[in-house]
Amino acid sequence: MGDFDLVVRNGRIATASDVFDADVGIRDGVIAALGPGLGAGRREIDAAGRWVLPGGIDSHCHVEQLSGMGLMCADDFYSATVSAAFGGTTTIIPFAAQHREMKIPEVVADYAQRAREKAVIDYGFHLILANPDDASLNSDLPQAIRDGITSLKVYMTYDRMKLNDHQLLDVLAVAAREQALVMVHAENNDMIAWLAHRLLQQGHTAPKFHAVAHDPLAESEATNRAIALSRLLGVPLLIVHVSGSEAIATIRNAKARGAAVYAESCPQYLFLTAEDLDRAGMDGAMFCCSPPPRDAESQEAVWQGLRDGTLLTYSSDHAPYRFDGTGKLPKGDATTFKEMANGVPGLELRLPLLFSEGFMAGRITIQEFVALTATNHAAMYGLSGRKGTIAVGADADLALWNPDREVTVTTGMLHDNVGYTPYEGRRLRGWPEVVLSRGRVVVENNTLQVERGSGQFLKRGPSDMLANPTGLSAAAARKILRTLIGMEKPA
Ligand code: URP
Ligand code: ZN
Ligand code: ZN
Repeated sequence: MGDFDLVVRNGRIATASDVFDADVGIRDGVIAALGPGLGAGRREIDAAGRWVLPGGIDSHCHVEQLSGMGLMCADDFYSATVSAAFGGTTTIIPFAAQHREMKIPEVVADYAQRAREKAVIDYGFHLILANPDDASLNSDLPQAIRDGITSLKVYMTYDRMKLNDHQLLDVLAVAAREQALVMVHAENNDMIAWLAHRLLQQGHTAPKFHAVAHDPLAESEATNRAIALSRLLGVPLLIVHVSGSEAIATIRNAKARGAAVYAESCPQYLFLTAEDLDRAGMDGAMFCCSPPPRDAESQEAVWQGLRDGTLLTYSSDHAPYRFDGTGKLPKGDATTFKEMANGVPGLELRLPLLFSEGFMAGRITIQEFVALTATNHAAMYGLSGRKGTIAVGADADLALWNPDREVTVTTGMLHDNVGYTPYEGRRLRGWPEVVLSRGRVVVENNTLQVERGSGQFLKRGPSDMLANPTGLSAAAARKILRTLIGMEKPA
């Protein structure tokens, strides 16, 4: 009989704030002890020469979901969670997506059932809200929040999903009252539609024109507007998948003014550029996502934003579509940039890319790696203390990284259902060789060790970011507004 179910011995542990050498003692799926020379475990894993890091949390990924354009993505909850686990991620927060004709309770029940049957790691959901009618706002959304879906995404673009500014204010007000975090896809729909219309009229249909239509100004304008709406109500906001240097500057300026605005970026904005959309034939379609990858200056701005806290989370925005008629090429080679599914895969390579090109290349510290890939996601989405850290009492979600392992990325080694990777041929340093979820060995010896359906739903609490909303520059005016939206009692 051992003291623990499992002991991970001799590893070098990193959290968002510390680095230390210790054993990790695990009992009943939870970290029960941390320290040198722990007692025996019924099972032991030697982690000498390995980094022992919190399993990643991917708080932006699309799984078994109908896209904004109405296309079903290529990964279901099994392939997506297996793929995530092989890349060192142990928690995902994908979307339960309401389209305009759908009712929230049905949407939530449907996603919950599919995930319960298939997921191999733990998961929560954000809601996507496309129809902020009375029932959605005043009864269904509050119920979903009480059920642990404490964040929701809204769109400022995509004809089938977009909300106008009046609707965005309605959503922000309800979210503030009900303690949910609003995530926004910030791109100016009319700018994109206007540019796309003229490009197509002139016969510019190739994938590279997607990046022209989604000009960085469409992103920075909408980012600025979304922030203004949130500041009007003094309500925190998260801008997702930030890609351009100007949008990053907009967010940094707003934060400097005290606005409670948070932001996320993704691998495609660090490792790809608009030039990738300009590949031979239709190949550029594989790199077509919204917002699109930009240029070297924006890549550098994303690195800087990740280092200085302007960008707090690094997620995949995994939006998997195959390079065929089901996704990228609904009309074969005649598909225009407006018709191809938007999105790139990234669940599996999100962490290895940042570990190699961020930590190993000296651009970020190991603590920053942990914060950006795990701890900040837990804080942002109501999982603090339970996920995203290595501490007594936290779930034993760990990834054991071998920093000496060199890997050349190929599509064949990946576990998603996409059939290509935008990162084909990249040489990466460091790999997560053993992955644990609640003390269960999920991946070892390059083999999946758990059953389909063994992941658990995470009923999340409110975001830590809601605790201290700032940005009340004109306090008195804000007080009146907050009274109007029911957050404060009239004086
Ligand atoms: O191109 C992207 N990002 N597709 C996924 C949908 C979204 O907007 O996040
Ligand atoms: Zn989006
Ligand atoms: Zn997305």
